[in-house]
Amino acid sequence: MERFRVVGGARLAGRVRVPGAKNSALKLMAATLLAEGEFRIGNLPRILDVEIMAELLRRMGCEVRLEWTDESAGTAFVSVPGEIGHEADYDLVRRFRASIAVLGPLLARCGRVRVARPGGDAIGSRGLDMHIDGLTRLGARITTEHGFLVAEARSGGLVGATVELDFPSVGATENILMASVLAKGETVIDNAAREPEIVDLCELLDAMGAKIDGAGSSTLRIQGVDRLWPVSYDTVPDRIVAGTFGVAAAMTQGDVRVDHARPEHLRIALDKLVAAGAQVSADPDGFRVVMERRPRAVDVVTLPYPGFATDLQPQFAAMNAVAEGTAMITENIFEARFVFLQELARLGADVRTDGHHAVLRGVPRLSGAPVLSSDVRAGAGLVLAGLVADGTTHVSGIHHIDRGYAGFEQQLRALGADITREDDH
Ligand code: EPU
Repeated sequence: MERFRVVGGARLAGRVRVPGAKNSALKLMAATLLAEGEFRIGNLPRILDVEIMAELLRRMGCEVRLEWTDESAGTAFVSVPGEIGHEADYDLVRRFRASIAVLGPLLARCGRVRVARPGGDAIGSRGLDMHIDGLTRLGARITTEHGFLVAEARSGGLVGATVELDFPSVGATENILMASVLAKGETVIDNAAREPEIVDLCELLDAMGAKIDGAGSSTLRIQGVDRLWPVSYDTVPDRIVAGTFGVAAAMTQGDVRVDHARPEHLRIALDKLVAAGAQVSADPDGFRVVMERRPRAVDVVTLPYPGFATDLQPQFAAMNAVAEGTAMITENIFEARFVFLQELARLGADVRTDGHHAVLRGVPRLSGAPVLSSDVRAGAGLVLAGLVADGTTHVSGIHHIDRGYAGFEQQLRALGADITREDDH
């Protein structure tokens, strides 16, 4: 077990480069299962989940080579055989929930799939009902047997249909989309998720020969095709990592240029930094955040994209903890993400929660203490809080942070932060 030792007080300044998005990379890798041949998926973040997804693809019979170009990014070369396996075991699935993304592609390609059901996790129960309902609409029969989700297409394969999602679920949209590209006829997904990672997946699938209209809108129209082909593709930059550095700059009253980010994917978050008092300048390859004052408190309401991202909520909570004024935070996506606020309180934050609302009254200073990350974004929020706390903060449970932030401490150190990785006894 390892932990971060963060000594507060540094003002972050300099440039940082953002790798590809974790939440896109894993789905792009899963989508390679849809076609036989040699794929190249570039701009992958150098994180454990990418290695686990590579292992999952190997279990399906693929050859996968990961080449890391530096401490934060790399490329996967995936060779997908004509006949692939269709079973994902619990030993891999329990290590990361995103493995459920192989359900749609395997069902489309093999007509039959057995994927261990992921359990709950630290940020909530995370149902699969919309994945199951959507695939059932395309003609799959789905049951749970001995901890596995077993899906079988009817004898002629999947057939296009209209699927109306109760909620624009990212994972359900992706699974239904990946299943539908090889189905017969037209599929319409209404109330589809609109996240940039969904658009990225649509662009990969289009390049592979799929026919998809409406990427980035609430209605996706897919005309099924008989076969797809392999391609070379680069992952969209990680908007959450980019946003995390933007908040870090604002909180530490710093000056940070975030390279290789797409500011258009972060509109609301960057507007909030401006409301907090930062100067933000954006161009097509990134943005710069300069802050010369104590941040002002800003309210946050998480919503599906293009609303404010739940994956940036803890980082903004950390900023609000030291802001001037009082902020209201409303978490609408993952019920358990407020667990993190109890850790923030250990650092001296003045926080009260009521259901999915929290009120944070800014205090002038936080005070370093040992804290525990409950998930990847909570961990990032605690590191940011440590940067503005007096003395030393030890952040434990950093395997969570390593899942979403490639080379986080090296990047923060390059900006002037005092952060080191050490054994957690
Ligand atoms: N939900 C259901 N039933 C379903 C699907 C979802 O009830 O069939 C619920 C979930 O329980 C949750 C909400 O709907 O309360 C949102 O779930 P969604 O399916 O949209 O999210 P996801 O696909 O499970 C992805 C990201 C999350 C990110 C969310 C929202 C990956 C691997 N994960 O999760 O990322 O927060 O979309 O944008 O892509 C993170 O990176 O820290 C992270 C948690």
